[in-house]
Amino acid sequence: MARYVGLDLGTAYTRIWTLENGIVLRSPTAAAMDSQTHQLVALGAEARRMLGKTPENILTFRPVRDGVVTDLEVTARMLDAFFANKKLRTTLRRPAVLLATPYRITEVEQLAVENAIMSAGARAVAQVPAIFAAATGANLRVTSPRGCMILSVGGGITEAAVISAGGIISARSAKLAGERFDMAIINYLKHRRNLLVGDATAEALKVRVGVADPTATPSLKEGEMEVCGRDSVTGLAARKVVSSQEIYEALAPSLDAVARIALSALENVPPEISGDVQTFGIMLCGGSALLPGLAKAIARRTGLRVTLAADPLDCVIRGLGMIIRKPTIWGDELQDRIRSIL
Ligand SMILES: Nc1ncnc2c1ncn2[C@@H]1O[C@H](COP(=O)(O)OP(=O)(O)OP(=O)(O)O)[C@@H](O)[C@H]1O
Ligand SMILES: [Mg+2]
Repeated sequence: MARYVGLDLGTAYTRIWTLENGIVLRSPTAAAMDSQTHQLVALGAEARRMLGKTPENILTFRPVRDGVVTDLEVTARMLDAFFANKKLRTTLRRPAVLLATPYRITEVEQLAVENAIMSAGARAVAQVPAIFAAATGANLRVTSPRGCMILSVGGGITEAAVISAGGIISARSAKLAGERFDMAIINYLKHRRNLLVGDATAEALKVRVGVADPTATPSLKEGEMEVCGRDSVTGLAARKVVSSQEIYEALAPSLDAVARIALSALENVPPEISGDVQTFGIMLCGGSALLPGLAKAIARRTGLRVTLAADPLDCVIRGLGMIIRKPTIWGDELQDRIRSIL
């Protein structure tokens, strides 16, 4: 009996779903290897903590960038280790894999990621657009002939799609998401506070005191966090308190860009379907949707109602599971792809 596996290979997190046990793995997409022996020395969260902090004999990798696999060998090694992970409630030997991929992936990139998954031991691989899986996992009625809209803001990419009758009517994908939010915070602090901070500090600020809309917090002035960095003028170590107001200001231009991505997915959509989206609004998912007030911030900028999905981090992987469980209810093209791995 074949084992069916859903795989969401994200810029920040890798998630695995199995037919027997549902979601069995959520792990940072990171690995560390010995530079001499090429043995894996750390994986997932442990490897992520080592990024940029290892001695010369250990190399750290983040093999997926902006939603696309950029290091095939490391991806294959990482997946092989994930598939063989003893802690999973099931062992994944020669699985048939349904992979979620960015909407604008090229054929070369598609082949490359399939090769990496096959060399990790998979028996077969089929791909579905991650944004379709996300809409499914967010419980939008993707097979109904009523238009619906999904906006996913992840770690590396933001994707927006209008879906009707089991197919994508229009979609947009852009390399602007959580990691670009972190960059915006780094740049803001450098220019406004003469403070240099690293990626991890910027992400911590975003997660702990970040706000996308002023109404998401009783007071923008009260949220604050002390961070350590380097003073860009004196070059010395510095500790400074950063407020929610500052993170809000730092992120505003990126949120404008996210709203533009959503609106551009609505361009040239047939009027009936566009009318459905006007009526029912946008469903918001992806890890960055956890930023307090993001739904409101996008609603203000687009003039559309925006609803936050339940468990926004897991919509894609949950959707892959739903697709695998009921292969016959989707559009012909998707059914053909699923049949190819059965
Ligand atoms: N509470 C939070 N507030 C703001 N951002 C958050 C929060 N929690 C997680 N994030 C951000 O969510 C992002 C990860 O989201 P997600 O897991 O959806 O990405 P991914 O699927 O790995 O990436 P992608 O789909 O873009 O390739 C990270 O940038 C992280 O900083
Ligand atoms: Mg993702």
